[in-house]
Amino acid sequence: MTQDELKQAVAQAAVDYTLTRIDDNSIIGIGTGSTANCFIDALAEHKAKFCAAVASSEASAERLRRHGIDVVDLNSAGTLDIYIDGADETNPDLELIKGGGAALTREKIVAAASKEFVCIADGSKWVDTLGEFPLPVEVIPMARSYVARELTKLDCDPVYREGVVTDNGNVILDLYNFSIPNPRETEAQINSIVGVVTNGLFAQRPADVLLLGTEEGVQKIEGNSNK
Ligand code: 5RP
Repeated sequence: MTQDELKQAVAQAAVDYTLTRIDDNSIIGIGTGSTANCFIDALAEHKAKFCAAVASSEASAERLRRHGIDVVDLNSAGTLDIYIDGADETNPDLELIKGGGAALTREKIVAAASKEFVCIADGSKWVDTLGEFPLPVEVIPMARSYVARELTKLDCDPVYREGVVTDNGNVILDLYNFSIPNPRETEAQINSIVGVVTNGLFAQRPADVLLLGTEEGVQKIEGNSNK
């Protein structure tokens, strides 16, 4: 199977799972990226079965609206029953690296505001130790150089993602050559640097469920909070 076919398969599995978790009053949290796009497209034919969506990016909001799905502001949605999103890496504890699409801050907010976080990923995203994928950090523009100098002290190589401005008007530093054996601690440590908005480690609030697309089929893996 190609990577695209694996993404389609996990997206369909995520739609089937979501339909068991929602009712017609539900507002669904929806993430960003190519796997999330497959999910949006597959969910569209069931749009009568839920009320609306909260999107983690302008791009996802636009795609949802094109399908005729109502998109509402998180402030008016309250706690969401479920949030579905992709990832750049996941470890066996369902701690993630996210932000390859620069939407990490809104993704983290929507995940935090949801009862259940379902991660959808093809098998290439599965790792034992996070950090092969460069860790994205969203930074206030005027703090970019200062934050990069502070990050260097953590023994990694920060690289400015040129030409990218987040939906929040900020910039991204990607941390290369950074093995992350203790994701919860590293997440807190980076977030404590003045000028950092947030970083792409989702360890303090990991996924609750992972739907992983493999050659053998879609595997459902429960996180520690569900065991
Ligand atoms: C966007 C993200 C995406 O979830 C992540 O980059 C995975 O994307 P894709 O599904 O295209 O591989 O965090 O900020």
